[in-house]
Amino acid sequence: MSIRVKSFLKDVGGADRVTEARREKLKNASAVPDPKDPIRELADKLHPSEMQFRVVDIRDASPTAKAFRFESVDGHIPVFQCGQFVNFRLKIGESLLTRPYTISSAPYEARGEHPFFEITVRRNVPYLVPDYFFENVHVGDVLTGALPFGTFYWEPLRDTNELVALAGGSGITPFYAMAKEIAHGKMRGCKLTILYGSVKSDDIVLKNELDEISAECPDVKVVHVLSDDPGWQGEHGFITREIIEKYSTPNSTFLFCGPLAMFRFVSKALEEMGVPKRRFRHDVVNNPADISTLPGYPKGTEEKAFHITVVRGIHEDVINAKASESVAVALERSAIPVDTHCRNGKCGFCRSQLLSGDIFVSPIGDGRRAMDKELGWFHACSAYPLSDLKIKIPIM
Ligand SMILES: Cc1cc2nc3c(=O)[nH]c(=O)nc-3n(C[C@H](O)[C@H](O)[C@H](O)COP(=O)(O)OP(=O)(O)OC[C@H]3O[C@@H](n4cnc5c(N)ncnc54)[C@H](O)[C@@H]3O)c2cc1C
Ligand code: FES
Repeated sequence: MSIRVKSFLKDVGGADRVTEARREKLKNASAVPDPKDPIRELADKLHPSEMQFRVVDIRDASPTAKAFRFESVDGHIPVFQCGQFVNFRLKIGESLLTRPYTISSAPYEARGEHPFFEITVRRNVPYLVPDYFFENVHVGDVLTGALPFGTFYWEPLRDTNELVALAGGSGITPFYAMAKEIAHGKMRGCKLTILYGSVKSDDIVLKNELDEISAECPDVKVVHVLSDDPGWQGEHGFITREIIEKYSTPNSTFLFCGPLAMFRFVSKALEEMGVPKRRFRHDVVNNPADISTLPGYPKGTEEKAFHITVVRGIHEDVINAKASESVAVALERSAIPVDTHCRNGKCGFCRSQLLSGDIFVSPIGDGRRAMDKELGWFHACSAYPLSDLKIKIPIM
């Protein structure tokens, strides 16, 4: 018995396996730890936390959307997958903002002779950042950002290769990237059917591009479903259970990207169809513009305004905040940098500490850990002030 234990311990230490050369190195090694970590250095080089991207082309993607093409000023575009996003850091007026945009070009286009990536920005109503892109971003401008982020991509170990995309509005962008990648012979045998819901044919983003791929590539099918276009020859109405059943098989993996109302609608349809949860994956679903419509929001508070005392290291600032806007938006308006990515409570990049006061946390994407809830940590992008607050945020 004692012999077995001894040999086992010897094996764990692995001392017998240390070569003579390694013994010599250990003998001569410095007693001071070497702070260099070559793996970390390589990772930082391949995926820098901040890069410069030059706009090299801007084109219309619909009457309400534009595609922006970027090249890397730093020489390379980090490897990404269809469905991931780039996070831009912008200064608009006095506000310091971070905004995610799904990469609408395909990964193979970032590896070609003239590597690039594209985003497609939709502006169907006046909106702060889309307005900025449409009015202020020109060919030759350089923007700051980083990529890739997000987990909304096809994973062969988990997903089947019969993909049914359920898209609404600008939610078409990850699927356009997938369609291009598949048409280029990538994504190992995937077949993609896109059910794309729009109001009128004018609202369809990237329509010509999608129809072209659909006509040329037998593995990509695009079905436009229009809710209010009497002259339309194709599918009408919303993306209902009947339509989903018509274009899917029992082996389909469903991928959703679109607005909250559509998410609720198609989730219900898929549940009624008995689709297992593992076969239904969705991208970030945004909070509604009017947060007071969510269950649990204390009615009457949305009109109020508060003060937030923000502690950052040794700095302490008092800023104004509207009850109807998230704490992250209040920080952005006051030019206090806050690192947001998903902007819906999921990723934790904007994790902050509530020192005093009350907040409403949106139930749509409450990704806080149980211990964080206990200890008063919250995600600034999906928390709304219900009183004056004192918070502590990380220094960016
Ligand atoms: C993962 C992900 C991928 C996305 N991909 C795409 C895409 O491919 N294409 C696309 O078009 N969109 C995409 N979006 C949405 C995009 O990031 C923006 O939210 C959208 O363009 C609207 O921008 P916004 O900042 O104006 O509005 P929001 O971020 O929704 O903010 C809401 C409103 O708050 C006000 N506001 C916010 N901040 C300030 C401020 N600092 N100062 C003054 N007012 C302020 C404005 O009135 C604004 O309209 C994506 C979002 C996510 C989470
Ligand atoms: S940005 Fe993802 S949780 Fe706030």
